[in-house]
Amino acid sequence: MKKIALTGIKPTGVLHIGNYFGAIKPALHLAKEYDARYFIADYHALNTVKDPQVLSAHIREVAAGWLAAGLDPEEVIFYRQSSIPETFELTTILMAFTGKGLMNRAHAYKAAVQENLEKHEDPDAGINMGLFTYPVLMAADILLFNPDVVPVGKDQVQHVEMAQDIAQGINFNYKGEILKVPRAAVQAAVAVVPGLDGRKMSKSYGNTIPLFAPEKELRKRIMRIVTNSQGVQEPKDPETSQIYLLYKLFASAEEQRALAKHYREGGMGWGDAKEALFQVVHRELSPLRTRFEALIADPAALDTILAQGAAKARPLAQATLNRLRRAVGIAG
Ligand code: ADP
Ligand code: TRP
Repeated sequence: MKKIALTGIKPTGVLHIGNYFGAIKPALHLAKEYDARYFIADYHALNTVKDPQVLSAHIREVAAGWLAAGLDPEEVIFYRQSSIPETFELTTILMAFTGKGLMNRAHAYKAAVQENLEKHEDPDAGINMGLFTYPVLMAADILLFNPDVVPVGKDQVQHVEMAQDIAQGINFNYKGEILKVPRAAVQAAVAVVPGLDGRKMSKSYGNTIPLFAPEKELRKRIMRIVTNSQGVQEPKDPETSQIYLLYKLFASAEEQRALAKHYREGGMGWGDAKEALFQVVHRELSPLRTRFEALIADPAALDTILAQGAAKARPLAQATLNRLRRAVGIAG
């Protein structure tokens, strides 16, 4: 039997090329080898996105984004978290086995408290229970589907470890392997994709290249990449230029060598380098954008794909939940 990989994607913004190289591509690669269950973590997004139009648009955009990037819904079970009510019953069960102290130690919560303290505010100002109990909902997402591996970014490893702790607590109490204990899989090989200003590309920094930007917007963003004041004739070091680092993600080995040589020889201005980058980005992303636009233009078809995914996911979720209900003495 194939092993199971599961991951959640939070619909909190427009997808950018950092998400593409850091999460989407590696997860699609993993799906060739594993039975994959990938879902849109829409109730996780509700903790921060409170505008209904914005939330529903992000859910569709993220779903269309994954499909446009090559997720095959025949191969991967692809669904919305909110379509699996078993998640929320399991969350209630897990709550009874989750120490409050464990939640106090979660990085995201601690960072929010720290920020409040620095601003001399109440430590819990603006922190909702959704954020505080986030790791429990995430543990339910995971444990419901018995995955072997959970591919995530580094920042999510602690959450997967909390899911392990909670599962082990339950298995210990009921003296059996009621829940499978998964492990996190971090993509070590994927470097951090730099943003327009050289920091990590992130929607919170407003320095992204959106994955599906129209051609004009794409060019505009690339032209905004911050460079130093070296003149056209000066030789340049490709490895310290974020234009070149981004170029490497999209260009063939031969193209990379040619541009690196041009950097080192001098005679290449930053404008030329940006134009070269635009060409390779556009070449790779334009077919994706065409697929994305077709998917987003047909929301009913998109909803059908997600509903079909949910129909495949629910019996799997019910099996785990029933096993747990029996174990705790609520049913049977
Ligand atoms: P953002 O930083 O824009 O809010 P998220 O935190 O929603 O992005 O990230 C979603 C996924 O994309 C995570 O798996 C994360 O590791 C990956 N990711 C985000 N930004 C980058 C980046 N600049 N380079 C590599 N991977 C990234
Ligand atoms: N917390 C994850 C993030 O912010 C998203 C997520 C929710 C998730 N549930 C999950 C990831 C379950 C892996 C498994 O990116």
